[in-house]
Amino acid sequence: MSYKRIEVQRIAGACGAEVSGVDLGQPLDSATIAEIRAAILDHQVLTFPGQSMDDGSLERFTGYFGAFGLEPFVEGEETHPHVIAVIKEADEQRTPNFGGNWHTDWSFQERPPSFTFLHARELPPYGGDTMFANQYLVWESLSDGLRRMLEGMRAVHSARRPYGPQGIYADRRRARSMKITASEAALAEVTHPVARVHAETDRAALYVNRVYTIRFEGMTERESAPLLDYLYAQAVRPEFTCRIRWQANALTMWDNRAVQHLAVNDYDGFRRELHRTTTAGERPLSVAEARQGRAAA
Ligand code: SIN
Repeated sequence: MSYKRIEVQRIAGACGAEVSGVDLGQPLDSATIAEIRAAILDHQVLTFPGQSMDDGSLERFTGYFGAFGLEPFVEGEETHPHVIAVIKEADEQRTPNFGGNWHTDWSFQERPPSFTFLHARELPPYGGDTMFANQYLVWESLSDGLRRMLEGMRAVHSARRPYGPQGIYADRRRARSMKITASEAALAEVTHPVARVHAETDRAALYVNRVYTIRFEGMTERESAPLLDYLYAQAVRPEFTCRIRWQANALTMWDNRAVQHLAVNDYDGFRRELHRTTTAGERPLSVAEARQGRAAA
C-alpha cells in the first residue's frame, strides 16, 4: 500500500509501524483518516511520535474510527468520561501494573473494542514499553489439524480474574493510582470463537488470552488448561511480536481483533501516565459464520 498523506515506516517483521507527517492534535480530512485506517489494517499497530494532544483531541481522533467503547470497572476522566488514565506512580513498587499480562482489551464483552488508542503524558526515563503480538500470524502458524479442531470451538471469557470480588484489583493496594472498582459484574461470562475472522480484513486470528479466557465452552477449566496454555505460549512467541518504545507525546493505536498486548512493568521508582480510549467493535465472527456471510453476499 502506498500512502500520500502520511509516511509509514514498518518497525518489526510481525507487526507495527511508525507514522509521521500528520498532526493528530488538529482535525483531519477524510483522505488522511482513510489512509490511517488502511495503515492500521495493514500493520495492526501504529505509533505516531510527538503528538501534542489533550483529552479533547484524543476523543476527536478516536471518533474518526467508530463510536466509543464501553469502559467497565475503570472510571473515566471527570471532564472526558471516555478517557481513562493509565497511571503507575513512582512509589507503586513491586505491584502489578495495569495491562501487565498478555491480553486483548475487554474480550469479556459481547462486542469487544475494535481499536484502542493510548497517548503518552508522562514517561519513565527507560522501560514501560508496550509489546504486541500478531494473532493472525499465530493462527497461521498452527497445524492444519489443530486449526480444523479449533475452528469449531468457542471459549468462555470473563473479567473475574482482574476485576471480580476476589480479583487482582479487589486489593486496593494494587494499581491504587487508577480509578478501578472490582465488582460482582465481573463474574458475567460470554463466549467467543477461538478463531475470529476480522470483519474488515477477512483474516482469521487466534482469539484467546491469559487474562480473560477462562475455559473452552463445554469443558472444565482443568480440561481446557493444557491446550489453552499451549496456545498462550504460541500466541506470544518473539517472532510474532513488536515492541513500542514510547516517545514523548506518542499516540499508539492497535487493532484488538488482530493483536494481543502487554505493558512491560520494568520501571519501578518512576511515574508513567498515558490516556486511553477505545472504539466499540462487532461481535466476533467464527470461521464458519464468515464463510456463510461470504456465500450469502
Ligand atoms: C493497556 O493494556 O491498555 C495498557 C497498555 C500500556 O499501558 O502500555
